[in-house]
This record gives sequence, C-alpha cells and structure tokens, in this order.
Amino acid sequence: MFIQKESKKPLYMQIYEYFRKEILTGNIKEGTKLPSIRQLTDTLKVSKNTINEAYQQLLAEGYIESKQKKGFWTVKLENSLDLPKSSWKQMSYPLSGQKAEEKIIDFQYGDINLSHFPIKAWKKNVIEAMDSMQKEVMLYGDKMGYFPLREEISRYLYYARGILCSPNQIVITAGTQYAVKQILTLFLPYTTHVAMENPGYDGVEKVLRKKGCVLKDINVCLSKGYPIEDLKDSHCHLAYVTPSHQFPLGSIMPIAKRIQLLQWANENNAYIMEDDYDSEFRYEGSPIQSLKGLDTNDRVIYLGTFSKSFLPAARVSYIVLPEKLAESVHTDLFETQAASPIIQKALYLFMQKGEFDRHLRKMRKIYQEKRTILVQSIKRYMGNRVEMIGENAGLHLLLVIKGEDTETLCEKAKICKINVYSAEKYYWTKNREASYPIMLGFGGLSKKEIEEGIRLMANVWFDIRINE
Ligand SMILES: Cc1ncc(COP(=O)(O)O)c(C=O)c1O
Repeated sequence: MFIQKESKKPLYMQIYEYFRKEILTGNIKEGTKLPSIRQLTDTLKVSKNTINEAYQQLLAEGYIESKQKKGFWTVKLENSLDLPKSSWKQMSYPLSGQKAEEKIIDFQYGDINLSHFPIKAWKKNVIEAMDSMQKEVMLYGDKMGYFPLREEISRYLYYARGILCSPNQIVITAGTQYAVKQILTLFLPYTTHVAMENPGYDGVEKVLRKKGCVLKDINVCLSKGYPIEDLKDSHCHLAYVTPSHQFPLGSIMPIAKRIQLLQWANENNAYIMEDDYDSEFRYEGSPIQSLKGLDTNDRVIYLGTFSKSFLPAARVSYIVLPEKLAESVHTDLFETQAASPIIQKALYLFMQKGEFDRHLRKMRKIYQEKRTILVQSIKRYMGNRVEMIGENAGLHLLLVIKGEDTETLCEKAKICKINVYSAEKYYWTKNREASYPIMLGFGGLSKKEIEEGIRLMANVWFDIRINE
C-alpha cells in the first residue's frame, strides 16, 4: 500500500479507500484482522488520528467490526466484486509511506505519440511563419485556407492517396467536425437525410444531428461489411463513410464494394463524404486506394486531417470538394477561416521542407512497432479468449470477448489502473443482447506500457498470471 503525502486527497481517505477496495475485491478475506493502529502509524509515518479516522469510516460503513481492545476485523460481505484474488500478504505489505506515482495506463483512442514529436523543427516553422508578417498570415486569412498550404496538400494527396485535385478544390478547416458543418452548408436544406455508418464516428454523428439532419443507419458488421443494399434503400443523397479503416471496427472496404458505392452515388445524383482519417498508418499489405482516387464521376467529398499524422492540437484538417461543387460554390457560403493562418503557414513550411514526410516515415515505424507489441502481447497473454479486430491499420484495434460484459471488464481493468473503453457509444441503435467490443487506442502509450497493460488485464480478466 502506498500513500501520497503530496496528494490533495486527505491521508485518512487514501487509507480508507485502499482497504475498502481490497475488501470489496476479496483480496482481504472476511474475518481478517487489520494491522493495528500503532503498526500502521509506524510503517506509514502518519499520525494515529489519521489511521483511526480511516478505520472509523470503514467501521461506520460496515466493512469492518471492532472487537474490544483486540482490534479491527473484516466482516462478511454478501456481494463482494467478483475479481481475481491476490494474497493479502502480497497486496498489503510492505506498507510504506514512500511516494508512488498514480500511473494510469490509458488505452484512450485519439492519443498520439508525443515523445517523438519534432518540436524543434515545428517551433522554428511557427516563428518563421510569424516573422514573415504577411497580411494573409497575421490577419484573418483566406476563407478557403492559406493557398500555399492547399498547394502542398494537393501535391501530398496525389502521391500518397492517388488523388488528383487542384488547390482550388481544397478548403482548410479546423477539424473534421467543422469540415462536416461546412459541407452541410452546401446541402441543407435541400438534402437533410444522411446515410451514416452504424457503428460510426460519434464526432460526425453529433454534428449531423445538431444541424437537424435525419440519420439513416447503415449497419456495418464484421462479417458482411458495408451493406450497399441498405444504402440503396435509404433514399439518401449524402452518405458518410470511412472506407479505408472503418471507424471503429477497423475493416477495409473491398474494391468491389467501393465501386458499387461510387455507382450508387452516380446513379442517384448523390455525394459521398469519405473520411480518410488515419490512412497514413497501414501495417499489412499495400496502402488502400482512397475512394476519391477512384472517383471518375466527381461524387466524392474527401475529408483529411492532420490530427493523426501530425498533431490534434494543430486543429488543421481539410475538405477536397468535387470539381463541379468547387466551381459552383460561392466562397461566401464558408465562414471565416477557423484554423489559425499562422499554424497553416507553419504547416506549409513543415511540408514544403520535407519535414512532414520525414515525420510520417518515422511515425509509421514507431506505430508499427507499437502495434506489433500490442498484437503479440494480446496473443501471448490472452490467447484465444479474445478476438482481435482491425489491427492492420490506424492507431487502435478492437477486442471482442465473447460471453463477458464489456462494462464489467472495463471496471475490472480500472482496479489495476488501466483505462479501456467500450465501443458501445459508437452504436446508434443499441443492441442489448450484444457484448460490445473493447477499443484499445495505442498511439499515446509506450511499448512497455502496452505490454504491461495487456499482461495486467489478462490477470484481472482471466486470472492468467505470467510474471515478467
Ligand atoms: C473517424 C474519425 N474521423 C476524423 C477524426 C479526426 O478529427 P479531427 O480532424 O477533428 O481531429 C477522428 C479522430 O479521432 C476520427 O476518429
């Protein structure tokens, strides 16, 4: 047991919470005598009052009972949590007053690797951007975005994603949600029904609903993928898809389906919003061609972002409009540019000097290694108790654990200071029977944390102990 003397949380509360958790998880069995107040005072180097307060709280809440002059004993609890037991001796001694880091291993989706961020180069470019004192950088800037950045993006899209477009088709936006808002200004009120992947990206779903769109669920599943027939039945003229790495399931839309999707748009005078959010990171096989790259009928509105490939805090993403739309759209439709012109110019410099490509190459290797450790650790510690999904691209994968309640698994992981998340929130139509996958984002974790996190979870979920 560790207490943090610098913590804002009162010491008695830390001691109380520690015992409460150990009792609830069954690590301290019923009828166990707790260490005496004097014993704990000596080992934790805190006052008798502090220990007494913690014990009184446990007493008041019925976790322990006191026996006259003999000390405190744990009582029988009817519903202690069904968690793996570890021996009281191992978990509770040595009691120590030393400071321990409350380190949480957080498999949060959306985090990226910051330890290799090229901060020096980036700072230099930001300063250079400001030093120029150009009006278009220091004032509001072009509504469509800083033109030289749009030129760099069009070059990048051509060699990286097979997209041939002019900078005039590109609109810089401050994030993907903002991009969708801008796109809706071109469609509303004429087109209000939008075909939305289910499960799908909640960021876009929220924007669509807030803007008053009627969402038609297109139920994507692992076995059948994206059901084009459902799209045809939806009578929508606008669809949102993530074909290169379905969010959150991670599947890749096969070429035959991509062609069907494009045909649907062409035959129905419809548009497709293709969100290509993490296509820079593909680990097996060759890169997946974008839908926009295949689009000969000018039906795809492409959404790209620098949040995964560079930095979420830059808040720079972009839209590639179909040629026809780009020509006909009056720029007055767009709001004032929301992405900072200074950051846009710095990003332009970063790309133009080849630093973005270098950064991408490095990050691909780093994420590839992290992904390998994650996959190997899951196989090694969890084996066939779990099924992995979508591990071939991006910065997250899913775990399916049959017969287990996802919320309970997430709660159990918390006990060993690991945060994992259910994918439930990405399903608009809830299916109460199903057990939702668990989503593991690995971008922000070190290789050591990934391995340790999976090992500890295997322990707490399946009682598998492989000591390293
Ligand atoms: C499906 C999807 N699209 C786009 C994004 C990027 O959003 P933004 O450009 O607002 O950072 C994310 C980020 O998490 C995402 O999951």
